[in-house]
Amino acid sequence: MVGFETRGARIDVLHGIDLEVVAGRTLGLVGESGCGKSVTMMAAMGLLGKRGTVSGSIRIDGEELVGKSEPEWRKSADAALR
Ligand SMILES: Nc1ncnc2c1ncn2[C@@H]1O[C@H](COP(=O)(O)OP(=O)(O)O)[C@@H](O)[C@H]1O
Ligand SMILES: [Mg+2]
Repeated sequence: MVGFETRGARIDVLHGIDLEVVAGRTLGLVGESGCGKSVTMMAAMGLLGKRGTVSGSIRIDGEELVGKSEPEWRKSADAALR
């Protein structure tokens, strides 16, 4: 689940998405405008910013990223992609 804090209220914009990106393969995400393609990949890369909140699980090489600080997130992603 991904949500944003807007004017004091939390708006959930992404529900029940489950995908796997396999190393060396290309994954295409197709859907109408506003369905959540950009938000999905921004969340996966830890780039939602301060107002974005993620719940559920995002793992890289089996390592959980949700709940980590931005520097820790970057460190894990860098290590996995090296
Ligand atoms: N920073 C944000 N604050 C509030 N809502 C957002 C924000 N970014 C995206 N959204 C909302 O999330 C939904 C998905 O947007 P987005 O991922 O950009 O769609 P797509 O890339 O598939 O066109 C939309 O309803 C959009 O308005
Ligand atoms: Mg987009």
